[in-house]
Amino acid sequence: MTRTIQRPVLAANWKMNLGPTQATEFLREFLPTHPASAERTVILFPPAISLAAVREALRGRPDIQLGVQNVHTEEKGAFTGEISAAMAAEAGAAFVLVGHSERRHLFGETDAQTAQKCARVESAGLTPALCVGETIEQRERDETEAVVLHQLRAGVSAMSDEAVRGMIVAYEPVWAIGTGRTATPEDASAVHRVIRAALVELAGDGALEIPILYGGSANAGNAAALLAADQVDGLLVGGASMSARTWATICGS
Ligand code: PGA
Repeated sequence: MTRTIQRPVLAANWKMNLGPTQATEFLREFLPTHPASAERTVILFPPAISLAAVREALRGRPDIQLGVQNVHTEEKGAFTGEISAAMAAEAGAAFVLVGHSERRHLFGETDAQTAQKCARVESAGLTPALCVGETIEQRERDETEAVVLHQLRAGVSAMSDEAVRGMIVAYEPVWAIGTGRTATPEDASAVHRVIRAALVELAGDGALEIPILYGGSANAGNAAALLAADQVDGLLVGGASMSARTWATICGS
């Protein structure tokens, strides 16, 4: 399914933090400080086990969208510990992070798997948020563009053009994730422009509407400058999204 996503997109990746109780507590604090706004899209990616609690806490707040941080490549079967895209959809997710750098680098997720996952997410009627980004060694070897484009083209290779036009892309330089070292708005724009051109080449002018998010040590202090940068359509935030107060500030940036 393709959905129109209002930009900017503020997406919170809680990683392996905030179980059902803490997630509910977070929303009790966050919701009153963040009035519904038609001018931006807020997406929360809690741990899958907190999804039901978050959905419950978000009753009456259809402006806030939900996603999961990962799904398996297969539709169902003997894959202990995994969840499928269809299950995520049934539990209330609309988005799925695919190819996050922690999946790629800590769990060995390959480009072939990100392609299978994006296709599986599309068939379940969900929207993939495909994450791409280079390591510090790759950046120093001047390979940023090649790495990011390779990950991007591989990730969308089994998706329909229509689904590509409806997806989200997140540029997350690995050296900036959880390190406190943020790309400058200019660094982010330079890579986002390359991603945008490749998306338009792949899926036509409709790809101008694809939100391209920046991720990597985004916080309340740098959010506004990053969001003002050319081709930066939103933020994917880890560490700074786990405090309700900080997240409210970022969502109001
Ligand atoms: P960070 O994480 O904001 O803690 O750097 C971003 C991410 O991993 O999506």
